[in-house]
Amino acid sequence: METVVSGIRSTGNLHLGNYFGAVKNFLKMQHEHRCFFFIADYHSLTTHPTPANLHESVRQILSEYLACGIDPETATVFIQSDVPEVTELYLLLNMNAYIGELTRTTSFKEKVRNQPDNVNAGLLTYPVLMAADIIIHKATKVPVGKDQEQNLEMTRRFARRFNTMYGVDLFPEPTAYNFGQQLVKIPGLDGSGKMGKSEGNALYLTDPPEVIRKKVMRAVTDSGPTRENQEMSEPVKNLFTIMQVISTPDTYNHFLEMYNKAQIRYGDMKKQLAEDIIRFTAPIRTRAEEIRNDSAYLRRVVQQGAEKARESASATLREVREIIGFKPF
Ligand code: TRP
Repeated sequence: METVVSGIRSTGNLHLGNYFGAVKNFLKMQHEHRCFFFIADYHSLTTHPTPANLHESVRQILSEYLACGIDPETATVFIQSDVPEVTELYLLLNMNAYIGELTRTTSFKEKVRNQPDNVNAGLLTYPVLMAADIIIHKATKVPVGKDQEQNLEMTRRFARRFNTMYGVDLFPEPTAYNFGQQLVKIPGLDGSGKMGKSEGNALYLTDPPEVIRKKVMRAVTDSGPTRENQEMSEPVKNLFTIMQVISTPDTYNHFLEMYNKAQIRYGDMKKQLAEDIIRFTAPIRTRAEEIRNDSAYLRRVVQQGAEKARESASATLREVREIIGFKPF
C-alpha cells in the first residue's frame, strides 16, 4: 500500500479532461491506497494574493470533487490552510532550500515572465511548500501530470537533503503515480490539442444542458469523408475520442460505421454526443449543487479531514523537531 498525496488547485471548475484524467484515477486510488487529497489554497495566493472570494472557490471545487465520488470516509480530504503543521515544516525546509535552485525552476521563471510586478517570495518557495505538503505524510506516490514533474523532483531533493544533513532516514522519496494506460487525454472541441481551462475549449461538469449543446454543436469538424474508410482529420478524430469515453459502445460503433461508409452526418453525431455528455454530467452537477448548499455536511467533511491530516502531520513534525534539536525546557 502506498501513501498518496495530491494537492488540488483551488481555482477553476472541473471539466471532462480533469474527470477522465485525474479524478477517475483518484476514485480508484482511494480504495487501494492511503490517500490524502487537499485543496491547495495557500498555493493559490502566490499568483492571486487578493482573491475575489477564496472561500467560495474552495467550497465549489470541494463540492465538485465530492460529487464525483471522492469519499471522505475512505480518503483524507482536507483544506491545506486547516493544517498549520505544513507551514511549520515549510519554514524548516526553507532553511535548507537554496536561492539558486529555486530561481532555476521552470515554473518560477515562467511566473516571473507572467507576473513581473509580483515576483514574491511565496512564488520562489512554491516548491518548498509543495514538498512540505507531500513529505509531511511521508508520501511515496504523487499523482501529477508532466507540468509538475520538476516540482516533484525538488520534493525528492529536499527529502533526500533532510535525511542526509541530519543523518536520518525519515522521509521516503516520492515518485509520480503512474496511471499508465488508464490515462485518457481528452481533446478539445476546437480541432486540436487537449481540453483545458486556459485553452478556453472546456466542457465543464457544471455546464447546464443548453451550454453543453451549444459547445458541442459548435465543435470543429471537416467537410466530411468523400470515400469509404477515409483517414480521419484531427478534429473529427477528437469528436470520436470524446464519444468513446462518454457514449455507449453501440453508439460509438454506429457513428464509426457511418463514417467509414462515408455516410456520416456530423450534426447527428454532435446531437447524440451532447445528449450523452448531459446524461453523464447531469447527476454530478446536481449533486455538486446539493453539496455546495449543505454547509453542515461540508463542515463535517472538512473538520474530519483536518483532524486526520493533522494527526499524520503532527506525528512527522514531532520527529522533525526532535531530529533538528528542538527540546522542551
Ligand atoms: N502544484 C500543484 C499544481 O499546480 C498543486 C499542489 C500543491 C500539489 N501541493 C501539492 C500537487 C502536493 C501534489 C502534491 O497542480
